[in-house]
Amino acid sequence: MLSSFEMRPSRRSLRNEDLFYCKVCRKMAMVTPPPLRLGVNVDHVATLRNARAGMSPDPVRAALVAIEAGADGITAHLREDRRHIRDQDMARLKAEISKPLNFEMAATADMLRISLATKPHAVCLVPERREELTTEGGLDVVGQHNALAPSIAKLNDAGIRVSLFIAADPRQIEMAARLRAPVIEIHTGAWCDAVADGHVDKAEAEWLRIVDGSKLARSAGLEVHAGHGLDYVTAEKIASLPEIVELNIGYYMIGEALFVGLGETVRTMRAAMDRGREHLAGRA
Ligand code: PXP
Repeated sequence: MLSSFEMRPSRRSLRNEDLFYCKVCRKMAMVTPPPLRLGVNVDHVATLRNARAGMSPDPVRAALVAIEAGADGITAHLREDRRHIRDQDMARLKAEISKPLNFEMAATADMLRISLATKPHAVCLVPERREELTTEGGLDVVGQHNALAPSIAKLNDAGIRVSLFIAADPRQIEMAARLRAPVIEIHTGAWCDAVADGHVDKAEAEWLRIVDGSKLARSAGLEVHAGHGLDYVTAEKIASLPEIVELNIGYYMIGEALFVGLGETVRTMRAAMDRGREHLAGRA
């Protein structure tokens, strides 16, 4: 049903519901906001596998279990140093999963070649430094717009949905829109770290940046995703933002899966996100 609607995010009803343009009835209609998709990142299943250089645990098997339990898509990051996901994992994910594959990568010539050959549903361009433990900050699209523009254009031309992993910074968001990337993913790491460390003022400031950044991005016509460091609590809270339509979550879920299983973790995360969406619709 939602495919009959086109989002017009700049208009908001009194009940905090977005107004949508109905392509069928050709008028604005008030409906509840779009569902929030869960993309499960399976990188750290591969981290565990690589610790013993064997074949298990298999990230593709994890992806299949996550989908069975309700994941809307699978995310994997092919890093230049191949520290977790490998080329063969990406090829198998594309061949074996029934839901969209989100291919995270640095915007290098080599990665562009591999992603164009893999033809995933989506590519998320991220910054990458070899010495970092994880993706530590957002992509500097303001500083690197000349270098990024050709990659974004090639991926757009190939029909691959491009997203840019950036901080909720107005300058970065405006440049992402100018670069014609259809999607941004807001880096939630600083907010999640502040929440986890109990730094209340910093957490509040980071949260407000995410709230404002999401609104700005939607009003610039961008689809808005979010990810990095999310757990059940932060995922539930961010699900209350109507502009955000996809969360990509990995590390916390793979850790939880050690104790309760991946299927149960996906279902619990889904329930947390649904509770957050219920707050948004004023139904909780
Ligand atoms: N989104 C992007 C773009 C990422 O780079 C990562 C980390 O690989 C994630 C989401 C998931 O972060 P986490 O593993 O902390 O949940």
